[in-house]
Amino acid sequence: MKIDGTAFRSLWLDETDHWSLRIIDQTKLPWALEMPRLATLDEVAHAISAMLVRGAPLIGATAAYGVAIAMRADPSDHALQHAITTLAATRPTAINLRWALQRMQGVLQDHPKPERAETAYAEAAAICDEDVATNRAIGKHGLALIKSRATAGKRVNILTHCNAGWIATVDWGTALAPIYMAHDAGIDVHVYVDETRPRNQGASLTAWELGKHGVKHTVIVDNAGGHLMQRGAIDMVIVGTDRVTNAGDVCNKIGTYLKALAARDNGIPFYVALPSSTIDWTIADGLTDIPIEERAATEVTTMTGRALDGSIATIRIVPKDSPAANPAFDVTPARLVSGLITERGICAADAASLAAMFPEYRTQE
Ligand code: MRU
Repeated sequence: MKIDGTAFRSLWLDETDHWSLRIIDQTKLPWALEMPRLATLDEVAHAISAMLVRGAPLIGATAAYGVAIAMRADPSDHALQHAITTLAATRPTAINLRWALQRMQGVLQDHPKPERAETAYAEAAAICDEDVATNRAIGKHGLALIKSRATAGKRVNILTHCNAGWIATVDWGTALAPIYMAHDAGIDVHVYVDETRPRNQGASLTAWELGKHGVKHTVIVDNAGGHLMQRGAIDMVIVGTDRVTNAGDVCNKIGTYLKALAARDNGIPFYVALPSSTIDWTIADGLTDIPIEERAATEVTTMTGRALDGSIATIRIVPKDSPAANPAFDVTPARLVSGLITERGICAADAASLAAMFPEYRTQE
């Protein structure tokens, strides 16, 4: 996608040193556009755990390059295992991380060591290219849904939660891909953007992305969605996801479940957009089988923003002695999901429909 007229992916190899990686530091958006260089395994691991890069598909793609960077420094079996273990420990919930690492390990473990680095870079590049193609396909399938609601030139109002846009993937995004395509096709689309406390991925990242692309949007506090649905202001919900079980339960950013409940109560379709690399074929029950990341309490007790004098400031918003809890994801049961928008098409959120859409994956329950 473009930033001020220049096309970008959310990660790329450095122009001057093709062994190191460039990313967009998402902790600095929307205040500053910084593109740090990652040249070591530890720098890549830090970028993922500190959320300079975030979003399930992007975490996987970045980790794949992390393995390649590690192989450049040392192509031994020990270094490969160390890289996989280090990167796997950065974040627990998004399955794309494990998916990408397993794919890298599968390609590299029996590969001759002198060629491991080159092969690892090629595989990481393939993961990135496939991610772009996959998201483009998700966009096309989701576009048909939006089109069907744009009858007689009526504006389509879509609510989204967190950031599942192009900077959460390599390009296009998952939930936002259909929205970008609808906008580009001339459909009058407007997005209600949940701010997504505590890290404000909606207010900081989704609003930034949509604004750069010229898509109409309105940022709302996380608790406003139900009220807007009751008043007929929202036609559909589209969110991304960090892990979907083989039975269609959806794990996504904390607060997603409440939006699904409100959507069901108001008869509003609730769609989830995902690449098949986000499906965990080994589990069925999202409530019991998905590890939910617990992040630092300071993300809840503080807020960071741009002060009126232009400086970036972090302020405390909770009494000094009040404890805070910070579960980062929740699980929306499959029964609340109207459909899964995948690269192969749209299917119901249930085991039979997922198996029919992806027959090559045998459920390993
Ligand atoms: O904690 P984050 O910002 O990595 O969480 C991201 C989300 O919850 C996204 O909705 C999800 O990864 C889908 S990204 C296409």
